Amino acid sequence: MKQYKRTLVTSALPYANGPVHIGHLAGVYVPADIYSRYLRLKGKDVLFVGGSDEHGVPVTIRARQEGCTPQDVVDRYHNIIKKSFEEFGISFDVYSRTTSKTHHQFASDFFKKLYDEGKFVEIESEQYYDEQAGEFLTDRNIRGECPRCHAQEAYGDQCEKCGSTLSPDELINPYNAITGNALVKKSTKHWYLPLDKYQPWLEEWILNEHKEWRPNVYGQCKSWLDGGLRPRAVTRDLNWGIPVPVEGAEGKVLYVWFDAPIGYISNTKELCENQPEKYGDWKQWWQDDDTRLIHFIGKDNIVFHCIVFPSMLKAHGDFVLPDNVPSNEFLNLEGNKISTSKNYAVWLNEYLEEMPGKQDVLRYVLTANAPETRDNDFTWKDYQARNNNELVAIYGNFVNRALQLTKKYYQSIVPALGELTAHDKETIDEFKDVKQKVESLLDQFKFRDAQKEAMNLARIGNKYIADEEPWKLIKTDPERVKTIIYISLQLTANLAIALEPFLPFSSKKLRDMLNMDSFLWEQLGSMEILAVGKQLGEPQLLFEKIEDDVIQFQMDKLAATVAANAAKAAKAEPIKPVISFDDFEKLDIRVGTVLECERVPKMKKLLRFLIDDGLQKRTIVSGIAQWYEPEQLKGKQVLFVANLAPREFKNGLVSEGMILSAQDWDGSIHVTGLEDTVKAGSQVC
Ligand code: 2FM
Ligand code: ZN
Repeated sequence: MKQYKRTLVTSALPYANGPVHIGHLAGVYVPADIYSRYLRLKGKDVLFVGGSDEHGVPVTIRARQEGCTPQDVVDRYHNIIKKSFEEFGISFDVYSRTTSKTHHQFASDFFKKLYDEGKFVEIESEQYYDEQAGEFLTDRNIRGECPRCHAQEAYGDQCEKCGSTLSPDELINPYNAITGNALVKKSTKHWYLPLDKYQPWLEEWILNEHKEWRPNVYGQCKSWLDGGLRPRAVTRDLNWGIPVPVEGAEGKVLYVWFDAPIGYISNTKELCENQPEKYGDWKQWWQDDDTRLIHFIGKDNIVFHCIVFPSMLKAHGDFVLPDNVPSNEFLNLEGNKISTSKNYAVWLNEYLEEMPGKQDVLRYVLTANAPETRDNDFTWKDYQARNNNELVAIYGNFVNRALQLTKKYYQSIVPALGELTAHDKETIDEFKDVKQKVESLLDQFKFRDAQKEAMNLARIGNKYIADEEPWKLIKTDPERVKTIIYISLQLTANLAIALEPFLPFSSKKLRDMLNMDSFLWEQLGSMEILAVGKQLGEPQLLFEKIEDDVIQFQMDKLAATVAANAAKAAKAEPIKPVISFDDFEKLDIRVGTVLECERVPKMKKLLRFLIDDGLQKRTIVSGIAQWYEPEQLKGKQVLFVANLAPREFKNGLVSEGMILSAQDWDGSIHVTGLEDTVKAGSQVC
């Protein structure tokens, strides 16, 4: 394997049209941060580059919705996103933005070089145009009737009602989504990168030379290549972005996916030019073959980072190509897709406010549950369990025991090591393997398993102390206790190093308690990190238990979002066809008193009622168990249809009527009641 001099780590530039959420953190930023911290700790030359992606149509849509300029939108979200990353300890060397002057100039020059060298093809095509507004429209800004389900407000790229993928040409009566104006077709010219020309090279470079890429990444690339690549437009008719630096291209900007990845290079340039002594020449990072370039991304970005951007770099010719693109799959939330537009997410800025000081807990859970090979689910219950049963009960507990015992027996001074027993040697051997295991996993981008291995040190430590029971031995064999505590303390120091890439805040807290001023990855596995006689600091708890009410608050918050979305999406059902008075008269609706109400075994949705209908008692079965506890309805008066034909359920229960209830727009069921008490059996008229 080639030995590189330096590693350049990039993480996808998030769109600055909203805050970032746990899906972003799990998929891209935590793994990229773990990797960068690990390499730094090993003393490697590493640069971790990030920034905000500030162009593109979604920014313009948001600006129009909010009645402000696109620049206002990106200024606001860039700052929110940058702050969230800082507070989560994402250790970027640079976090800049694509509206910076450096980036505009750099991306513009990049385009111009390719243009001058004839690397693009020009294609004239007919696109939708709003004559009144004087603008061409992007797919997302066009709406019209869906040709499949005839929903009235389908988008130019997709119908949200029936889920069909569409092109604007398929829409019936297309109109401008913002102004509502009807559209006409008008010819416009754009520049395309002929990806088809790069296909043979890409096949060789990816399919033959990068077989080691993750199967999900390799597989997606293969299917794109198997499908045959076509030229891709790199410009757009839009007034927000980097102007196309060519005469006659007024009103056109670089496509956001053309300029954004160039941001990795321009952000490096900006950093190096600001601090050349510290970071050197940007060209060394991007143009020297001894640089190993790694892109951390989410799966929706694979094609851009493995096919489009490398083709751009190849066309340019001056830059290194990615050595690996460890892309994650998606993280779901409580079984549902995270959605920015539906506000269904755990937003980092809100988490930081609501769960202060718990950055490492989230980092831990997201890595433990990282969607490395398939989509995974984040649940608040799992978050609570991992905090309480792993961070508190294993890591925190071990460290606290070791430090409290040292304080109690030796005034927090590291005691001397005595003779080793077989059990001591076994324990030491076990934890000495951890370094090599964690390294090998991190080198393969297996962050989830690597964190598990690092946490194993705490498991080993807990077991060791529990087996040795120093609190008993202190009375009978105090010399022996010194050795047990010495070994336990070295284990805590090892934990502080091994978990630094994963849980940097707790590692720092632990190092402060251990008075470890400096530390190196290479010390991992050593039994001599804390010198005999060293004074340690005051023990403090590393983690605290999270109670049910805190978790319930978060779950309720998500449930409220789901309900609000359902209410927004729902519309009142259309009125059914007219019926005659005679038909109405056929219905016998009466008042009944609920004598009994209970759940039906093995039928989760059903409640069984015994109703006094004024003449006799009757059983009615109703599918409303999700919405009511039986006690809430006992003794109540309800309205029911008394002359409905009996209906038999699978379990043999027969329902003799139907209780009337209303279904709200959010789907919830509300049994209709009476304001006054009336005799059971009274007819509704
Ligand atoms: O998917 C996204 O959020 C894009 N803004 C990622 C861009 S990555 C890179 F190309 F800048
Ligand atoms: Zn449709």
